[in-house]
Amino acid sequence: MRDAAPTIYLKDYAPFGFLVDSVHLTFDLAPDATRVHSRIAFRPNPDATDRRFFLHGENLTLIRAAIDDQSVAPEVTEQGLSCAVPDGAFTWEAEVEIDPQGNTALEGLYMSNGMYCTQCEAEGFRKITYYPDRPDVMSVFTVQINGPHPVLLSNGNPVSSEPNRAVWHDPWPKPAYLFALVAGDLVARSDRFETCSGKQVDLNLWVRPGDEGKCAFGMEALKKSMAWDEQVYGREYDLDVFNIVAVDDFNMGAMENKGLNIFNSSAVLASPETATDANFERIEAIIAHEYFHNWTGNRITCRDWFQLCLKEGLTVFRDAQFTADMRSAPVKRITDVIDLRARQFPEDQGPLAHPVRPESFQEINNFYTATVYEKGAEVIGMLKRLVGESAYAEALDLYFARHDGQACTIEDWLAVFQDVTGRDLGQFKRWYSQAGTPRLSVTEDWRNGTYTLTFTQNTPPSAATPDPQPLVLPIDVGLLGANGDEVLATQTLEMTEATQSFAFEGLSARPVPSILRGFSAPVVLERATDAAERAFLLAHDTDPFNRWEAGRALARDTLMTMATTGGAPGADYLDGMQAVLRDDGLDPGFRALMLAQPGQSELAGALADAGTVPDPDAIWQASEALKTTLARHLQDDLAAILAACRIDGPYRPDPDQTGKRALAGAVLALISRLDGGAAAAAQYAEADNMTLQLSALACLLVAGKGENQIAAFYDQWQQDRLVIDKWFGLQISHAEPDMAAAVTDALTRHADFNWKNPNRFRATLGALAMNHAGFHAADGAGYRLLADWLIRLDPVNPQTTARMCSAFQTWPRYDAGRQALIRAQLDRILATPDLSRDTTEMISRILGAA
Ligand code: TRP
Ligand code: ZN
Repeated sequence: MRDAAPTIYLKDYAPFGFLVDSVHLTFDLAPDATRVHSRIAFRPNPDATDRRFFLHGENLTLIRAAIDDQSVAPEVTEQGLSCAVPDGAFTWEAEVEIDPQGNTALEGLYMSNGMYCTQCEAEGFRKITYYPDRPDVMSVFTVQINGPHPVLLSNGNPVSSEPNRAVWHDPWPKPAYLFALVAGDLVARSDRFETCSGKQVDLNLWVRPGDEGKCAFGMEALKKSMAWDEQVYGREYDLDVFNIVAVDDFNMGAMENKGLNIFNSSAVLASPETATDANFERIEAIIAHEYFHNWTGNRITCRDWFQLCLKEGLTVFRDAQFTADMRSAPVKRITDVIDLRARQFPEDQGPLAHPVRPESFQEINNFYTATVYEKGAEVIGMLKRLVGESAYAEALDLYFARHDGQACTIEDWLAVFQDVTGRDLGQFKRWYSQAGTPRLSVTEDWRNGTYTLTFTQNTPPSAATPDPQPLVLPIDVGLLGANGDEVLATQTLEMTEATQSFAFEGLSARPVPSILRGFSAPVVLERATDAAERAFLLAHDTDPFNRWEAGRALARDTLMTMATTGGAPGADYLDGMQAVLRDDGLDPGFRALMLAQPGQSELAGALADAGTVPDPDAIWQASEALKTTLARHLQDDLAAILAACRIDGPYRPDPDQTGKRALAGAVLALISRLDGGAAAAAQYAEADNMTLQLSALACLLVAGKGENQIAAFYDQWQQDRLVIDKWFGLQISHAEPDMAAAVTDALTRHADFNWKNPNRFRATLGALAMNHAGFHAADGAGYRLLADWLIRLDPVNPQTTARMCSAFQTWPRYDAGRQALIRAQLDRILATPDLSRDTTEMISRILGAA
C-alpha cells in the first residue's frame, strides 16, 4: 500500500492565477516517442489572489521550456512543474515527449489497434503536456498533427489538410478535458445535417475498415439527437463538422470532446446481425447523451470536478427525455428505475455512499458514479416536477443565456430556477449535499368522506451524512375507486417536513391510493399493504409505472418469502401475471417488463432492509422456482403469445419490433423451462438477427443444453470482437452458482481473453460479479478470482480496476462467513505493493477506512 494520497476538498476551491488566451499544440506522432509542442498565451487572472505558476504534468519527459522565447528551467515533480513568470502577460512554450504505445491506462494519448486516440476527462490532459488541467481554465485551441496517417482529427473545424499534416481550430473556449486527437487508418460513414438556422454540418462516423456496415444506426441517432435538441431545448449545433470515432479500447461508454466525440465501439457500432435490440437502444441513448453535452457540459462547463453532476445529471436527464420521446415513455421510466435500484441504491446505502455533489475526493475518476449521474438526473426530474413544465423551460433558457461560455456550479444552476420561479430552493439543495436513500413510510386514515395520507421521511445516517435533514419530496399520488376508476387524477404533493399529512376531501368511498406515481422521487417507499391491494393495482392502476411497480412488489414479496420461510407463490401474483400477459391492449414491451422478476441482488438488498441476512443460494433457488412455477401457470398461453409476437419483414430496431421481441424473449424463457430447450434450439437454428440468436442461446444455457450452439456461435463470430464479448459474458452470467467461478476461470484461459481490453475484462470478470449467487458462492471462489484479476489489472489500468471494486460494496449485508471471505480479499488487494491511487481509495472506502 502506498502513502495516502492527498484529499481534495470543495471548500478549498480557488481560481487559477492566470487566464489562458490561446493554446497552440503541435503533435509529431510516433508510437513510443510522440513529441508535443505547446505555445500557450497566459495573462494574470484579475479574480485570483494566488499567482504561483504551477502546470499539471504526469508521465511527461520535458525536452525544453521557454517563456517569451527565453529558455527556462522549471522545477519538475511527478505532478507537474512550477516556474517563475513575468508580472504581466507572457507566452509559455514547452516540448515534451510521451509514449502512447506504453500507455495502457487509456488516459491521455494512447494507442488502440494501431490508431492514436485520447481520453482527457477528467485529468488526462496532463499526460499529454504541461497545462493548468482544471475545468475552469478555458481557452481556444489550435492543433497541428503531423503523422503518416490517412486520417488526422482534432476538435473544432478543419483549417487545412495535406498529406501527413492537418490543422484544426476550435473557436469555442473549452477546458482541456474536452481536448481530443485521433489519428489512424479510418474510414467514414458521412452525412449532413441542416440546422434550424440553415447551416450545413458535415457529420462523420469514423471506424476501422471492415466496420462500415455498423454505422447506419448511429448516424441516424445523431441526426435525431440534433433535431430534438433544437426542437425541445432550442439548442443549435455550433461547428461546421461533427465527428464521432469508434475505438475498441476505452474505459467507459463515450466522451463528449468538442466536435470530436470518441466512443467505445460497443456504444456506437451495430448491425442487426451483430447487435441486440438492447444494444441499439443503448447506442441511441449514448449518442444522444454525448451530443447533448455540447451545450450541457461544453458550452456551459463545470467550475471544478465537484460540480460533475452539473453536466452529467442534466445530460442524463436530457437523454432520458429524448429516449422517452423516441420510444415508449413508460418503458423508459421503468427500465431507468430498475437500473437506479440495481446500481445507485446499493451505492447510496453502502460504504461508498456520497452526495450527488461530493465534497471531497482523492481520485476524481472514482466519482463517475450512479449517484452523480443517475441520482443527479432524478434530482433534476424532481425539480422539473416541482416547478412545472413551463418554468423548467424558462429556467433552462435563462441558464443557457446567462452562463454560455462559463464554468459553473450547482449554485448557478439553482439560481436560474430561483430567479424564474421566485421559490427558495434552500431546502431542495439538500438533495445535492446529503448522501443516502430516503425511506418514505405512509399511513392512511378514512373518516367522514376524508381520506388522509400521512408520510414520514427518514434518511439513514451514513459516514458521508451523519445527520440527514428532511428533504423536499414531490410525491405524485392518484386515487382509485373500488371498480378501478380514477377518482383523483395525479397530483404532486410537496412534502417538506419529516412528517406531513395530506387530506383528500369529499370522497364517497374509501379509495385505493396509488403513491409515488412515475417514481416521482428516488426513495424507498415503505407501505404496509397486502397482496390483494397489490393485485388490484396491478390490474387497475392508471399510472403505468405504478402498475408495473405493483407487479414487481408482488414478485418481490413472493420471492422473499420463498427464499426465507419457503412456500409457494400465491394466486395474486400468478393470476395477475396471466391477466397482464393476455391483455393485448398493453404494449408488448411493457408486458415483457411485467413478466421479468426482480434481480437476485435487489432481493438480497430487500431482505437485508427487512432485517434478514440474505442467503444467495436460497435467493437463487427461489428465483428459479418462481420462473418454473410461472411457466407452468401460464403454459396454455405461451405458444399463442409467441406466435402473436412474430415479426414479418425486415429487422428494425424500432420500439414496435423491439417490444415484440422483448415479450417473445420473455415467453421463450418460460417455454424453455417446460420443453427442455426445444423451442429455443429451433429459434437458434433459424435466427437471422442477434436479438433472437442470443435470447435463444441464453435459454439453451439455462436448460443445460447449449454446448453445441456455444461452439457454433464462437466459430461463426470469432472475427467480431463485440459479439465475442457477448459469448464470454453469456456463459458466465448463465453459469449455475457452484460453477460460475470455474467457468470464468476457464474462460480467462481462452486464447481470446485479452484482459487488457476493458470490454473483454468487463464481459468476463464483470459478468462474474453480476452473477449474484455465483459471485457470492459460499466457498469464496468468486471473490478470490475477482481479486486476483483486479490485482493483475491495477498496474495496467487503474481506472477500470477501481470501478470494478464496487462489486464488493454490498459486503456488509451478508453473513459473517462471507463477510470474512470478502474482507480477506479486500485486505489482500489493499496490501498489494504500488496499488494505484484509484484502487486504494475505492478499497479503503469499501472497508470503511477512508
Ligand atoms: N463524460 C463522459 C460521459 O458522460 C464520461 C467519461 C468520464 C469518460 N470519464 C471518462 C468516458 C473516461 C471515457 C473515459 O459521457
Ligand atoms: Zn456524460
